[in-house]
Amino acid sequence: MISFCSLTPEILEELYGRGARQCPSPNDQVSLVFSQAKPFDLVELEQLLASVGWSRRPVRRVRRALENSLLKVGLWRHDPKFPRLVGFARCTGDGVLEATVWDVAVHPLYQGTGLGKQLMNYILEELSKMGIEEVTLFADPGVVDFYLRQGWLLEPSGNRCAFWYSTQ
Ligand SMILES: CC(C)(COP(=O)(O)OP(=O)(O)OC[C@H]1O[C@@H](n2cnc3c(N)ncnc32)[C@H](O)[C@@H]1OP(=O)(O)O)[C@@H](O)C(=O)NCCC(=O)NCCS
Repeated sequence: MISFCSLTPEILEELYGRGARQCPSPNDQVSLVFSQAKPFDLVELEQLLASVGWSRRPVRRVRRALENSLLKVGLWRHDPKFPRLVGFARCTGDGVLEATVWDVAVHPLYQGTGLGKQLMNYILEELSKMGIEEVTLFADPGVVDFYLRQGWLLEPSGNRCAFWYSTQ
């Protein structure tokens, strides 16, 4: 069951920055917050991404990638002293026409309770506020169904996608 232990607007803004919004929580004892403004501890972010099995990336490059991202959202487990990052996603794009979603992750302890879906809904709402109508992402094979269940479409004919990887 999704419940909602309410935080005041003052606490939300003070701890999580402007525009922070509560995320319905699967557990009465846990309050969760979406924030685009709370700065990330890059070590904590990489720990979250490592917890879902992704290889670590140089912190300096991650910092620049975040700076250059169109949208980055943290899903925080509320604690007045030590909020914990339990989910993350970011988007790149032109801010007008198109965006691409990257690095969608929910900590394994919090998976399977609807948070990934809420994170994706949040992102699409925020992109929609910018007027963006075309959103793409590259899904790992094991999570394609996660996106299909939410209305995403597979690239239709399998012949419109092209990739280039640097060999250096
Ligand atoms: C993919 C991920 C973000 C999903 O987060 P989550 O919080 O566990 O997902 P939810 O609980 O919101 O699941 C929403 C729905 O998708 C389904 N689902 C979740 N993960 C799924 C998967 N890997 N494959 C198929 N369906 C999945 C759930 O069963 C649920 O279905 P329902 O709506 O019928 O009940 C999370 O598992 C994760 O961080 N995985 C590792 C990182 C990763 O692979 N990210 C995606 C990169 S492309």
